[in-house]
Amino acid sequence: MAQSAHGLFNYQTGRKGAIALGYDSALIDTIPDDALSSFCGVGNPFAISTILPGSKVLDIGCGAGFDLLVARKIVGDKGHVCGIDLTEEMIKKARLLVERFGDDNISVQHVFSEEIPYTDESFDCVISNGVFNLSPSKLELFKETRRVLKTNGILQFADVCLLEGKVLDQTSSPDDWAQ
Ligand SMILES: C[S@@+](CC[C@H](N)C(=O)[O-])C[C@H]1O[C@@H](n2cnc3c(N)ncnc32)[C@H](O)[C@@H]1O
Repeated sequence: MAQSAHGLFNYQTGRKGAIALGYDSALIDTIPDDALSSFCGVGNPFAISTILPGSKVLDIGCGAGFDLLVARKIVGDKGHVCGIDLTEEMIKKARLLVERFGDDNISVQHVFSEEIPYTDESFDCVISNGVFNLSPSKLELFKETRRVLKTNGILQFADVCLLEGKVLDQTSSPDDWAQ
């Protein structure tokens, strides 16, 4: 059974996290609690620029699907959103939501982002929230992201980055880095 992110992270998650990161509260209210409670994004990839209605969007590391559902609202019925994530429980949660809505404009797949299962130039926009920093093969991930973006496609991602010093050393826990 997938757990809520609440209480497991060093930063605010779920509804509080989404509000703190500047997501529109009216929009948050439209997202089912199953997706909202597992939200553990580190920023708001939608704040960077406007995704156009009708766009095809890929969410890398979609988790339980919060940003996926936000993107679905933006692209509308002529658009399509795809989510990929390596954690089976997150994908199960996202898939249950999609099935509950019976929405053909959303699809999710359980895969590693370093081998994105879509053909070249499939997407107008790639979004991601708190995922690139976790990849052990960032170069592959960026190459794959570039490959599936259309010419003039846009990458809008939020992430944490190291400004100075070492974060992980022999005394620090990988959990601190991930959560
Ligand atoms: C901090 S959570 C963010 C989840 C979601 N984007 C959100 O905002 O709630 C990071 C997510 O990235 C996924 N992830 C981490 N590394 C990944 C990789 N190499 N390929 C695919 N998914 C990955 C994890 O399974 C997890 O769901």
